[in-house]
Amino acid sequence: MKELYKNLIENNRKWVAEKLELDPEYFEKLAKGQKPPLLWIGCADSRVPANEITGTQPGEVFVHRNIANMVVHTDMNMLSVLDYAVNVLEVKHVIVCGHYGCGGVLAAMGNEQYGLLDNWIRNIKDVYRLHSEELNNISDDHDRAKRLVELNVEEQVYNLSKTSIIQNAWKKNQFLEIHGWVYALENGLVHDLEITVSDTSEMSAVYRI
Ligand code: CO
Repeated sequence: MKELYKNLIENNRKWVAEKLELDPEYFEKLAKGQKPPLLWIGCADSRVPANEITGTQPGEVFVHRNIANMVVHTDMNMLSVLDYAVNVLEVKHVIVCGHYGCGGVLAAMGNEQYGLLDNWIRNIKDVYRLHSEELNNISDDHDRAKRLVELNVEEQVYNLSKTSIIQNAWKKNQFLEIHGWVYALENGLVHDLEITVSDTSEMSAVYRI
């Protein structure tokens, strides 16, 4: 167990050496500041690392991760990240990336208690209820879970567009697209759900502010 921890520091030193070999000023340049064009909202799952999946480098993606890539309107953490990304960094794209086999989504489909986490997962149960007609018609458990992962991403994209942060950016004609992706653990491929939104035209009127 101690070895595992010590290796992290050793790996860090190797990584620094590799970067410096390619570019002696690599860290000096990065330290000057960031202007990433992307905000990633993904699952905390260790198998879904934003940079590696998208072939991006440090400085290129602003990242927020939580269990099951949720956009919860009372989450100060998410709202702060979103506000900074949209209003200071002026990102061009926000990507909500879910993944098949998501533990949070699977837990939400069941009826077990997991402790504190149940209150977070409740938000995914709401997504299930919203789409229960479609979901209950899928007899295969595996397929139903996959569909809930997709619908959950769709709802989180929609939740983003409901925020005053996003709507104010659109009002100012700031270029800002919100995308929904699902990552497949089995093959590493990202699937674009093609639900991109860039204005409030398809939003229920009650959410327009
Ligand atoms: Co997950």
